[in-house]
Amino acid sequence: MPNTKPTVEVCFAPPLYEYKLTQENYITVVVDILRASTSICTALYNGANKIIPVPTVDIASTYIGTGYLIAGEREGIKLDIADLGNSPTQFTKENVMGRSIVMTTTNGTQTIEMAKTADQVAIGAFVNISILAEWLIAQHTNVVIFCSGWKNKMNLEDSVFAGALCEKLLANNEFENICDSVSAALDLWSIARRDLNHYINKALHNQRLTRMGFEDVIPYCLSNDLAPVVPVLKDNEIVKA
Ligand code: MLT
Repeated sequence: MPNTKPTVEVCFAPPLYEYKLTQENYITVVVDILRASTSICTALYNGANKIIPVPTVDIASTYIGTGYLIAGEREGIKLDIADLGNSPTQFTKENVMGRSIVMTTTNGTQTIEMAKTADQVAIGAFVNISILAEWLIAQHTNVVIFCSGWKNKMNLEDSVFAGALCEKLLANNEFENICDSVSAALDLWSIARRDLNHYINKALHNQRLTRMGFEDVIPYCLSNDLAPVVPVLKDNEIVKA
């Protein structure tokens, strides 16, 4: 009997995306736990209308004076042209309710750009993990979990999240694991879950953000279901599914 289960695989870093095994009928879930995907979920949860992800600062600059909020960073540091940086704590109801946002970040918005060839693109983070898993299961389609990593290399926080999401997708035997990347992510998650905040102290971007004084955002970024929305890309704009 043919296997009709949708498949799941993980890409641990952007250069691996072109070698993904999944070639058709797939949703790509873009992940950038520290901090872009967490901030996108938070912004939509707190009432932003939409987020336009753009890959470069030059493109973001074209939105100055248009009424859009500009959000973004490079190397973690808020852009001079931006109203907001990239900390989820800045995407409060007061700041974003009813607003449209243009966002550019070091890795996350580049990953979104690369993911655009997928049939659908969704955004994943711990803060939306349960609703995202339920939504993915309901779509009955293949899933590629695409970790933004850091400068084309894998990172711990996105990889651990990939394991946590795979665990939810595989729990009721609804997806087929088609790549050892899934097993590797699950193994990493099985270690990290014992004390996620402690484990992620090892992550270099955690250390980088802490040096810049952003350590207060880390526990939020590692908490489940604080921003239960499913952000999806529609016509180059991220909106709630
Ligand atoms: C990124 O896109 O690389 C990040 O989210 C970096 C950050 O702002 O922490």
